[in-house]
Amino acid sequence: MGTTLYQRLGESAGIARLVDDVIAAHLANPIVKTRFENIKDLERTKKMATEFFCAGAGGPQAYTGKDMLAAHKGMNISEQEYLAVMDDIVGAMGKNQLDDGTKNEVVGILYSLKGHIIRV
Ligand code: HEM
Repeated sequence: MGTTLYQRLGESAGIARLVDDVIAAHLANPIVKTRFENIKDLERTKKMATEFFCAGAGGPQAYTGKDMLAAHKGMNISEQEYLAVMDDIVGAMGKNQLDDGTKNEVVGILYSLKGHIIRV
């Protein structure tokens, strides 16, 4: 049985699946869809998001993307948009049948990042 967060998320394959579901949810979410429709290279963003989640969950991958402040600087992301993104991530974790403890751990990590993303 998995013990680290990385293992409980299904390692890189599980996390890549989760990121696909999260981006699909963002593209269907009226609060944030335009933000994601406007991304020029969505495959690259998905790859970076997968690396970020893997590394943040304790996986062996190195994260090669921008830090959260640099990635979101100048976008003027609102609190409402941030919550919408968190809701999409929680929804995708439910769809992938992750347990409550795992979901809560991810929510805690995401919440801790908000100061680097909202209105920066
Ligand atoms: C919940 C916490 C969030 C995390 C962990 C996160 C993570 C990331 C990561 C890893 C990237 C890729 C950085 C790179 O390309 O080097 C990224 C890009 C991006 N994020 Fe976020 N993000 C979060 C919240 C948000 C929110 C709330 C929005 C807006 C509604 C947003 C919009 C974007 C956009 C539009 C890009 C692509 C920028 C571009 O390359 O064109 N993110 N994010």
